[in-house]
Amino acid sequence: MMNNGDGRRIGRSMEGTVLKRRTVPPPGLRKFLWGVATSAFQMEGASRCDWTHWNVKDENDRRARLNGVGHLSRTDEDLALLPELGVNAYRFSVEWSRVAPRRGEWDREAMDRYVRIAATLREAGIEPVVTLHHFTNPSWLAKGTSWEDSSTAEEFLRFAERAVRALRGHARVFITFNEPNVFILGGHLGGIMPPGRKSVKGSFAAFANVFRAHAALYDMIHAEGRERASVGVAHNMVAFHPASAGSAMDAWAVTAAHAIYNMGLIETFRTGTLSVRLPSLFEEETAVGVRGKLDFLGVNYYFRMFLRMSSLSMEGPEYFWEDRSKRGLTETGWEVYPKGFEDVLRGAALAEVPLVVTENGTAETDDRRKIAFMKDHLRVVLRLMREGIDLRGYFWWSLMDNYEWLEGLRPRFGLYRVDFDTLERTPTAASAWFARWVKRRRALEGTGGSR
Ligand code: BGC
Repeated sequence: MMNNGDGRRIGRSMEGTVLKRRTVPPPGLRKFLWGVATSAFQMEGASRCDWTHWNVKDENDRRARLNGVGHLSRTDEDLALLPELGVNAYRFSVEWSRVAPRRGEWDREAMDRYVRIAATLREAGIEPVVTLHHFTNPSWLAKGTSWEDSSTAEEFLRFAERAVRALRGHARVFITFNEPNVFILGGHLGGIMPPGRKSVKGSFAAFANVFRAHAALYDMIHAEGRERASVGVAHNMVAFHPASAGSAMDAWAVTAAHAIYNMGLIETFRTGTLSVRLPSLFEEETAVGVRGKLDFLGVNYYFRMFLRMSSLSMEGPEYFWEDRSKRGLTETGWEVYPKGFEDVLRGAALAEVPLVVTENGTAETDDRRKIAFMKDHLRVVLRLMREGIDLRGYFWWSLMDNYEWLEGLRPRFGLYRVDFDTLERTPTAASAWFARWVKRRRALEGTGGSR
């Protein structure tokens, strides 16, 4: 359908498919959400999940996995930063392994804390956006099974349904899964995340189980009526480009990567069937029951990635980042490429549901670079909204520097600077800039923020 080797072609193929604003927006998404995003493990660590002991590098790393950046003992003061930023939304996750530390156990206090977070936010006029699965799985489960087995989906549902019931009345915007493509391809195909598997078939099975769990949770959340809550997923999207413009193999890799990585999830929600077609490599499809079960699509966007395909192998193409746009690579080695943000959002609009940018950000110690990134990406958001794309929120990743999955306490994605020794939080020029932007926008949109 779309050839995405270059952004211009994506842009043109999208013309005429622009989604007009819905007349009845989903609950919690009536006003534009300006927010910041975090996840539990990255903020507060966890001693009983599959990431706790995964490839620990050193003593500092070990400590950071147990404690994150100390959010557990600083919850109130961290939440107090949100009004300073002027945001009207905050995305956070519930750590499954804290709430269900052992098989069959439920830690009411741990859950109550997340409920209190949601309640505190609502009282302050800040929309809680709750992620139920953000990469981590409890150790008791991960020891014997994985997302390749349907029993993991069943256990997840047991946890998630109970968590949603506890949060009812405080939260109404739910994200079932954060980036299924990242944790499944990273953990079941690439072997670089837990459980460290490298299996194409296993990855397919994991996707099917994740979609089925989403469908069941969607139905459960909506059982008492659709007007009460909104349910989405946060989908990682990448602007794939060929390493060499003239290479047919690279172009093939880009088309396949875009179709599978970016559009696969969207197609699955449109059709209800999970389908992977890589002729003579891997072809399989299965019904997963998610058709139409998406109230909004969350998009997480960070970078453009180049693909080089030297031979048709199951190993897939070589991927890398390069500073072709001459803006300098970020602290995680990623290219800054706002045009790719526009391209992926146009692709996401094909889902024909409202879009929320659930993550966008950059790791930079130099605030000028962080602010430049923000400006360029926020401009894209405004431009697409003016065009009529149904964008309903933008969340900066992240509120403060925190634990980065593969790189630990080094990359600085935060608006607030965290001193990793004392765990002190300090505002930065970037937090001031973002706060000014949000307050101005909210004043213009008539949703507050004129202070
Ligand atoms: C994840 C975040 C992560 C961010 C930056 C996203 O893939 O959802 O947890 O910190 O990217 O790498």
